[in-house]
Amino acid sequence: MRTLIDAERLQARISDMALEIDSYYRGQDWYRMTQEPVVVIGVLAGAMFFMADLVRKLSIRTKLDFTRMSTYSGKATTVQQPKIICPPASRLHDAHILLIDDILDTGRTIGVLRTHLAWPYPEDVKTAVLLRKSDKVPYDVKADFIGFDIPDEWVVGYGLDYNGLYRELPYVAVWSGDESGQDQSKS
Ligand code: IMP
Ligand code: MG
Repeated sequence: MRTLIDAERLQARISDMALEIDSYYRGQDWYRMTQEPVVVIGVLAGAMFFMADLVRKLSIRTKLDFTRMSTYSGKATTVQQPKIICPPASRLHDAHILLIDDILDTGRTIGVLRTHLAWPYPEDVKTAVLLRKSDKVPYDVKADFIGFDIPDEWVVGYGLDYNGLYRELPYVAVWSGDESGQDQSKS
């Protein structure tokens, strides 16, 4: 496994992203006038570490919630639309939402969630992703806040998995194992 982004670079960039996100919301009239918390919704399980680190660096008021989607198995890219298995628990009718995911790959996950969460006020759903496979993302799916652009390789660590493995690594690495889940670079 080859380290792509080490823990120090992750934290430095996440601190910058928190400043960008703070300044975006502090610049919004509704936030200045109401101080209403932003509902931060993390996509489980991949976004768990990114969300945990990001929200602790934000100075705006937040409420935290989660959603769970049907996922890829291993690194196979599904052709079907991902489905929402567990929707957020909060009342979202007139909430200002910040959606958090680990990676923007084909854009299907963010696309589905945006469509679901955007009703009835689409302008109030913003998205933050740690990583973006910039060669692959279709032009019509965009994230508002992006940590790093990465090449189109399978990455693990810092929440990202291969068949549920390696989420706990404190850095992002390029997966170099075979289909059995064995890491070739360690043998
Ligand atoms: P999308 O719907 O194709 O944009 O994919 C987003 C989801 O696929 C992410 O939330 C991840 O769970 C998963 N995913 C995509 N690429 C990778 C990767 O390189 N490593 C681990 N998970 C990935
Ligand atoms: Mg995911």
